[in-house]
Amino acid sequence: MRLRVATVVSGRGSNLAALLEALGREGDRAPAEIVLVASDRADAGGLAVARQHAVPTHVFNDSADSAEWRRVLEAAGADLVVLAGYVKKVPAEVVLSWRGRMLNIHPALLPRHGGAGMYGRRVHRAVLEAGDVRSGATVHLVTEEYDRGPVLGQASVPVLPDDSPDTLAARVLAVEHRLLPAAVLAAARAGKPVPFALDEPDPLIP
Ligand code: GRF
Repeated sequence: MRLRVATVVSGRGSNLAALLEALGREGDRAPAEIVLVASDRADAGGLAVARQHAVPTHVFNDSADSAEWRRVLEAAGADLVVLAGYVKKVPAEVVLSWRGRMLNIHPALLPRHGGAGMYGRRVHRAVLEAGDVRSGATVHLVTEEYDRGPVLGQASVPVLPDDSPDTLAARVLAVEHRLLPAAVLAAARAGKPVPFALDEPDPLIP
């Protein structure tokens, strides 16, 4: 039986697109399917990505309402929730009831550069300001504390001397697009989220 995955997005949805493409490549053998894309924003690019793939969508009337989350996730028959660029707070009751079955992707090597307000360009600016020589992406389980749940997998990239937040973001995004599908495929094969490693070497790591 395929793992039924609901994703929640706020933005352009490139991670969602990478996930849909990776599952598409698995064809009939795909161990997971995206059954819902939900968003706090009616104009999120991720909703358009979902529609292109004929995936049902939902725009929250009130993204702070745990009953609405419960209703849509149950109606979709979701087994796993993937936050793929969701920037709002997930209601505490939802985090609690989906504990161990909700993943997030963060564009830095947690525990560095996470926490409330750390998203988008701010993350990459913080990496540059800290003088880190590597950054990357992290997939972790969602707990009550922002970006502090158990890490399941990471991929790293170098920070180059002339990087701007945007050039670093683009390099990190490229590994996010491999990391998130790997996380979901590993979860689907195991029947629940598990620690995983990317099976291909990172071409950017010397
Ligand atoms: C990604 O960098 C992800 O790590 C972060 O938000 C961004 C979403 O990008 N949580 P996209 O909407 O998947 O293109």
